[in-house]
Amino acid sequence: MKTILDYETVALVDEDDAIEIIDQTLLPGRIEIIRLHTAKEIWDAIYLLQVRGAPAIGVTAGFGLYLLMKHSQAGTFEEFMKELREKSDYLNSSRPTAVNLSWALKRMEAHVVETAGSSFDRAAVIDEMRAESERIKAEDIDVCRRIGENGLTLIKDGDGLLTHCNAGQLATCKYGTATAPMYLAHEKGWNIKVYCDETRPLLQGARLTAFELHSAGIDTTLLCDNMSASLMKTGAINAIFVGCDRVAANGDAANKIGTSMVATVAKRYNVPFYVCAPTSTIDINTATGNDINIEQRKSEEVTEMWYSERMAPEGVKVYNPAFDVTDNELITGIVTEYGVLRAPYDKAIKELFEKKNA
Ligand code: MRU
Repeated sequence: MKTILDYETVALVDEDDAIEIIDQTLLPGRIEIIRLHTAKEIWDAIYLLQVRGAPAIGVTAGFGLYLLMKHSQAGTFEEFMKELREKSDYLNSSRPTAVNLSWALKRMEAHVVETAGSSFDRAAVIDEMRAESERIKAEDIDVCRRIGENGLTLIKDGDGLLTHCNAGQLATCKYGTATAPMYLAHEKGWNIKVYCDETRPLLQGARLTAFELHSAGIDTTLLCDNMSASLMKTGAINAIFVGCDRVAANGDAANKIGTSMVATVAKRYNVPFYVCAPTSTIDINTATGNDINIEQRKSEEVTEMWYSERMAPEGVKVYNPAFDVTDNELITGIVTEYGVLRAPYDKAIKELFEKKNA
């Protein structure tokens, strides 16, 4: 039987000048595949979380920029770049916290600059953009698999694992980041038990993570966000894996709101807390977590969404940041495609980028 894992999170449909995504706002009740054609449709899909999760947003942005430039009529390289930068800035304004969005857009722009050559050949430049956007997607799958292999070294058969939000296949193009060790453990026949925080207010844990892990046949248990301390206290959790939207140069990590609370409780109960991060999510230009722009979202997500009637008094003030920052001292390890980084993270991250760029 076809499950949610058999659908592509993000795909390019070149012949229709479209990006195809699963509309994640409808999950798990309905699997609906939609196509995005215009800049506004792509912007809205990212803002509304029809496509979400840092790597998946990056892949969507790459495909989006290619498609938006595919029919450019620019006569000179300068005109082409001006148009490209305008479209890139627009897509980049859809969500502020996940660095993969600007990372993918900058990578597309840099690739155009590198490959353009001295005489401007528009068709060739557009072909290069297509190839680069497909590479971003292919690399995402490879990187997630490698994060899974590195994460697997941190767990064993029979472990109980906790995760927060959705850093699963639905947030990437395959495997997920935080879920990659879980999928690989399951592939090996290990009996792991995964606990998913429901993740208020948008319920990514309940609607997405529990859905995909349960569909894969993994032993999955859902809990409300305020239950993880009592669960950790029982000793049921051997390790926690979460994704992230941006890791600062000192190892502070922004992820879905509630992550830092989980990390704080994990410290209290001596449960290892791992942040899974492709190097595309590490932002060496952001010094610390204090420098990360945290997205604030609409109050209705807290007061009304998912309820059959409003559950808060009209006019009450609402605090609704979409992400929080986990201080680096609460993080046991950062699992990247190159290995598991350990504190001091400023040094580990610097060395990783030096090696990667060598
Ligand atoms: O608001 P969302 O659903 O896009 O938030 C997603 C997360 O916080 C994920 O954990 C993060 O993007 C990593 S996805 C591999």
